[in-house]
Amino acid sequence: MCGIVGYIGNQKASPILINGLIRLEYRGYDSAGISTIEKNSLSIMKDKGRVKNLYQLEGIDSLTGTVGIAHTRWATHGKPSQENAHPHMDNSKTFSVVHNGIIENYHELRKFLIDHGYTFYSQTDTEIIPNLVHYYYSKDTVSDDLKFLRAFQHACSDFKGSYGIEIICKDYPDQMIVTRKDSPLVIGKGEEENYVSSDIPAILSFTRNFYLLNDFEYAVLSRNAISFYDQELQSIAKEVKHIEWNASSAEKDGYEDFMLKEIYEQPTAIRETIGAKFSESSHCVFDELPFTKEYLATLNRIYIIACGTAMHAGLAGKNTFEKLCKISTEVDVASEFRYRNPLVDEKTLCIFISQSGETADTIAALKLCKEKGAKTLAISNVIGSSITREADYSIYTHAGPEIAVASTKAYTSQVMLITILAIYFAEILECNQNVITPLKKEIMELPKKIEETLTLAKSIQDFSKKIYQEKDMFFLGRGIDETVAKEASLKLKEISYIHSESYPAGELKHGPIALIENDMTVISIITEPNLVEKMISNIQEVITRGAKTLVITNQEIDANLFDRMIKIPETSPFLSPILSIIPLQLLSYYISKEKGLDVDKPRNLAKSVTVE
Ligand code: AGP
Ligand code: GLU
Repeated sequence: MCGIVGYIGNQKASPILINGLIRLEYRGYDSAGISTIEKNSLSIMKDKGRVKNLYQLEGIDSLTGTVGIAHTRWATHGKPSQENAHPHMDNSKTFSVVHNGIIENYHELRKFLIDHGYTFYSQTDTEIIPNLVHYYYSKDTVSDDLKFLRAFQHACSDFKGSYGIEIICKDYPDQMIVTRKDSPLVIGKGEEENYVSSDIPAILSFTRNFYLLNDFEYAVLSRNAISFYDQELQSIAKEVKHIEWNASSAEKDGYEDFMLKEIYEQPTAIRETIGAKFSESSHCVFDELPFTKEYLATLNRIYIIACGTAMHAGLAGKNTFEKLCKISTEVDVASEFRYRNPLVDEKTLCIFISQSGETADTIAALKLCKEKGAKTLAISNVIGSSITREADYSIYTHAGPEIAVASTKAYTSQVMLITILAIYFAEILECNQNVITPLKKEIMELPKKIEETLTLAKSIQDFSKKIYQEKDMFFLGRGIDETVAKEASLKLKEISYIHSESYPAGELKHGPIALIENDMTVISIITEPNLVEKMISNIQEVITRGAKTLVITNQEIDANLFDRMIKIPETSPFLSPILSIIPLQLLSYYISKEKGLDVDKPRNLAKSVTVE
């Protein structure tokens, strides 16, 4: 995971690098560091913990270098510590490197280097990179403009695993070289200055013009130029992309935390996602998709593959594809799917959901499906992200940058987009028109209903004060509500550190009900009209065993049956996850605040999981 930034220009690099790192801190925050070219030597300043610790380092203010690289770490190899923090140098202090990813064969490369006289000072896989570059550099007898690039490319061709790497060299003080494989990296083009970053929002306040690097490509940056090379170091041309996002969408805009801001951005995110694809009066249009009635009618199944919250959005998608299009749909966690030799062939449509578009397991699962001959469709929130460059087809949620580690507006936008996609398929297949017409009407009304749901915030905040000290909680639901229970439970765990379980309500008595104790909080979601009675009976069973109950519902139910009932607006069962998750996002948020935790950057987590 981790975030990397690079700068080459005429300004002092260190403040620009630290500013970029602060915006990338959501990607990892075990340690941070920067390396700049100072006169004729490389300087490194780094420390354990958050980026802001860099401001305390002695000498950081006197750095004057105008070329530099920076890193905020999510440790994979070697515990979080000062010596394991990036950047790392080679023994001769000629090269300085930051790295995002894992060099899987680092053991053998480390041994090779030790056998050739190199010493290692950290436990990271990364430290082999500058040393291996030095090894090839010192063997190259031709001293020309490309010697640095040749040595770097030679070293990279030995790596197995994933990497986004920035490297600087004291012998080439006006250059920075970057490359990537399965880890994100973008290059920002400025006026007499250029930038590198793990994502676009981190450097959006400096430039709107970006180059996207593909796997195994190299970029050599100077102040006035950027040259691109392929794996064999043949020169290649690249088009610059202009990004329309507003820089302020990556700021907190007066909210206390990104998560709260993003929860409140949901009406806009849903409006934007409904956007141009959707029409109430005519068929939905996805110009980028070529699917015909014949193709969809002969599908043996749809697979939806994703991780975490994105996978939960996939579960809502399963419900919609099966009910609306009558296509059998499986949902799987990418890290499991990719290793279980799944039954996928050219008659399977594989859909991958990823907010970041950089999740390593989801990308690997996509590659596997392509090999097996299936058509692949990516749903992402980030234009030009790795997954969209691998997939046969891509469609986008328009949620805007999501910075908080806990996903909120991306989830509801994913559910929205996949519902519109299912309507699009059903219209091609000419099925269920009687269901589609009222559903479309409900979609148009949804942003307003989200706004209405958000007005519940105060009462949810009050309720959070009653339960924030709990150790365990349960989330229950049936049908579509069970998928929301899963998402609510994940949200609570990740930002409040309270253990919780989500269960299909009818499954509780097959084991987990043994865990219900006096005063334990059980939260239930009830939006499926035909399952109301069954849910009430299941909740009664936990009340009998002493549980305190909170119910989120859009149905007419007697509030006196529970300790607390929160009423949300009624909508189609296909859309109800978008409304019913909102009070539960807010509940997790307020519990986390009540406990004094860092809502946007929960411990042990990172926003983009670019390692397996
Ligand atoms: C959500 O709150 C999580 N932090 C996490 O589960 C996330 O949804 C998952 O890592 C997938 O990320 P992606 O959508 O960027 O692929
Ligand atoms: N594997 C490297 C380390 O543990 C980089 C991890 C990352 O991508 O944050 O230092």
